[in-house]
Amino acid sequence: MRVLVTGGAGFIGSHTLVELLGQGHHCCVVDSFATSSPEALARVRELTNAPLDAHEADIRDTARLTGIAEEFRPEAVIHFAGLKAVGESAERPVDYYEVNVGGTLSLIRAMEAAGCGRVIFSSSATVYGDPEYLPFDEAHPLKPINVYGQTKAMAERVLSDWAGAAPGRGAVLLRYFNPVGAHASGRIGEDPAGIPSNLMPFLAQVASGERERLSIFGDDYDTPDGTGVRDYIHVVDLARAHVAALGRVAALEGAEPINVGTGRGYSVKEMHAAFSKVVGRELPYEIAPRRAGDIATSVADPSRARERLGWEAAHGIEDMAKSIWAWQSANPRGYRG
Ligand code: NAD
Ligand code: WQD
Repeated sequence: MRVLVTGGAGFIGSHTLVELLGQGHHCCVVDSFATSSPEALARVRELTNAPLDAHEADIRDTARLTGIAEEFRPEAVIHFAGLKAVGESAERPVDYYEVNVGGTLSLIRAMEAAGCGRVIFSSSATVYGDPEYLPFDEAHPLKPINVYGQTKAMAERVLSDWAGAAPGRGAVLLRYFNPVGAHASGRIGEDPAGIPSNLMPFLAQVASGERERLSIFGDDYDTPDGTGVRDYIHVVDLARAHVAALGRVAALEGAEPINVGTGRGYSVKEMHAAFSKVVGRELPYEIAPRRAGDIATSVADPSRARERLGWEAAHGIEDMAKSIWAWQSANPRGYRG
């Protein structure tokens, strides 16, 4: 298929491009490189040996995006472009609404102009907020507890209303749980700017000596070992879920939210132990106070993804840890190195 990929140079976008190009899809990337590097696309080309069009453009620039879409004529769009830092979203709410909600509106206009009615959207388990029950299924109420989550819930709403308003429109809303890991080659991976706010990139920098020790945010949660439990999903599995979703969205009428997780949770201490094992030494850590806004446990019910996408996760935490270490040890300063 001809697939327009917004945010393709980012962590999840770059891994998805490798899978799409490997399956023979024809891709065109739109990215402003706001939180990524063109080097990621160079490495995608190197890994796949496939041609890849890319445009440096902001998704909020509707005229530019429309021109690109009219020229490329996508059969489907995968919409990764967005801002994703929960803490920052509280400090810069308008930027987050502008990019994540306004950018989605802009994209829809460009799709309409180009006659494309098929979209796969990067949503997040953060749209659920505090669990009323676990595991989270797609019918769980959406009550996001941070600005970032609000923007994702709002973009889901916009896409659902648009997809329901006319025939020939489909939107698969993929709600990712906790994406981690890297391509097994170690050539592409997660490259956060500044101090990583997520667990695994932070641990990776402890392992490579960029940071002194991990702070474990709370060991008094109501979980088996007291530390937070999350459903970590290998980014290559997540990438393959997008390829599967392309098949689904082609004939879909309306919007469909689908969780992307494994259904199995691991604690911070378990992730720390798995990563320490791969690195070959116990990585230093301290117990710190809880982080505001964190919940004890977040785990997916992934049965809808299995039923409707024919997809399930294949990689466990050992693969996650090994691939992160392959990436981090070869690229301690990310794409800037
Ligand atoms: P990322 O920051 O690595 O990638 C986002 C990409 O979008 C980057 O290449 C960035 O340059 C681009 N971008 C940002 N603003 C743009 C704009 N205005 N115009 C054009 N391009 C722009 O993040 P990621 O982890 O790859 O996340 C991809 C998507 O998945 C995001 O929408 C994110 O909210 C969502 N998501 C991520 C996670 C996660 O933990 N990584 C979890 C759930 C959902
Ligand atoms: C995981 C666990 C922390 C860092 C966030 C977003 C979510 C989604 C994924 C985008 C928690 C603990 C963390 C550290 C720690 N992103 N931790 N020390 O918060 O589950 O989800 O990323 O959509 O929307 O909210 O992920 O990796 O930050 O934390 O102890 O230095 O690790 O408390 O229990 P989170 P995370």
